[in-house]
Amino acid sequence: SAAEKGGYEHFMIKEIMEQPEAIRKTISPRIRNGEVVLDDLKLSARDLEEMDRLYIIACGSSYHVGMAAKYVMEKLLRKPVEVTLASEFRYCEPIVTPNTLALVISQSGETIDTLAAMREARRLGARVISIVNVVGSTIARESDGVLYTWAGPEIAVATTKAYSTQLAVVYLIALYAARLLGTITAQEYDAILAELQRVPDKLEQILNHKEDIQYFATLYFNRHSMFFIGRNLDYAVGLEGSLKLKEISYIHSEAYAAGELKHGTISLIEPGTLVVALAGYTPLFEKTVSNAVEVKSRGADVLGLTTQAMATALKGTADHVIAIPETHPILLPSLEVVPMQLFAYYTALQRGCDIDKPRNLAKSVTVE
Ligand code: G6P
Repeated sequence: SAAEKGGYEHFMIKEIMEQPEAIRKTISPRIRNGEVVLDDLKLSARDLEEMDRLYIIACGSSYHVGMAAKYVMEKLLRKPVEVTLASEFRYCEPIVTPNTLALVISQSGETIDTLAAMREARRLGARVISIVNVVGSTIARESDGVLYTWAGPEIAVATTKAYSTQLAVVYLIALYAARLLGTITAQEYDAILAELQRVPDKLEQILNHKEDIQYFATLYFNRHSMFFIGRNLDYAVGLEGSLKLKEISYIHSEAYAAGELKHGTISLIEPGTLVVALAGYTPLFEKTVSNAVEVKSRGADVLGLTTQAMATALKGTADHVIAIPETHPILLPSLEVVPMQLFAYYTALQRGCDIDKPRNLAKSVTVE
C-alpha cells in the first residue's frame, strides 16, 4: 500500500531516499571521540600485520561493494585484496592460510552461494568477518565477527540502501585496520572519517535534485544499449550502475574499465548508444575524459558524472553532466552510486517496468 511505501510510488525510491538516515544509523554507533570503534572484531595489529591476504566474498551488488572495497583497502592497508564472486570462490581452490582473512558481504545473510563460500573459507582455516543487514541471519551467526548495517528492511528487489550502508562499513573497517597497521597518517585518518560523517548530508543534496536525473532518464530511456565506463573507484560504481539499470529497466548494459574499451567493446558503440562516463575520481579524470571523447567521436551520447569542481571541464565532452558534491576522493563511490540508482529507477519508471519486482529476480537467492 501507499502507506507502507511512505507515500512513494515504489519501495525502491523510498529506500533510495532513506539512504542518508541508514548511513547515519550504521556509522554513528561505530564512531566515538573521533575514532572508529570495531573492537568487537577482536582483530589485533599483529593479526593484521600477519595477514597474507584479504578475500572479499559476495554476490551481486554486495560483490560490487567488494569491488570498491578492494581499491579502498589496498590504498589504505597496502595489503593484497582479492574480490571473488562467492559462486567462483567455492570451486577455485582458493589459497587460504591461517593468516587469511575473509570479508563476507551480504544484505540478507542467507545467499546460499555466499554462505557456502564462507563455510569453505572457514574449513580452509580463514578467519571470517561479515557485513550483514539481517540480524541473526545464517551468515551473521556463522561468522567469527559481524558488523551489521542498519539499513532496516529492504523490500525492493534491487538493492540501494543495503549497498550504501555496506560501503559505509567498508570505510569503517579500512580506517580501523589502517590505524592498527600504521599505514595511515593521523591527518588522513581524520580527514576521511570527517568526510565519511558528511556523506549523509551530501546525499541529501543529491536527493534534493533528483528531478535532474529524472530529466536525463526521459532523454535516454528508449536506448537499446548502454555502457558505463570509469577507472578505479569510478569503475566499481559503474558496475553497480549498470547492474541496477539492467535489473529493473531490462536495457542491455555493460560496465567497462574505461581503458579497456579499446580492446574490444568500442566496436559496439554506434550512433545512439548511451555511454555513462563516471569521472569523479580526480587523479584519473583526464584519462576517462579521453575515453569519453573516443566514444563520442563514434556517435555515442555521453552522460557524464563528476564532482562540481570538474563539471565545467566535463561539459566540453559530455552531452549532459551530473555534478555531485566534493568529498575525499576515496569516498566518491558513496556519492556517485546514488545518481546511478536514480537513473536506473527513473529509466525503468519511464519504461513502465515492474520496478520493485523485476522479472526473473529474487531478493535473496537460496538455491545454487
Ligand atoms: C540477489 C539480489 C541482489 C543481491 C544478491 C546478493 O541476486 O537480487 O540484489 O545483491 O542477491 O544478495 P545478498 O543478500 O547476499 O547481499
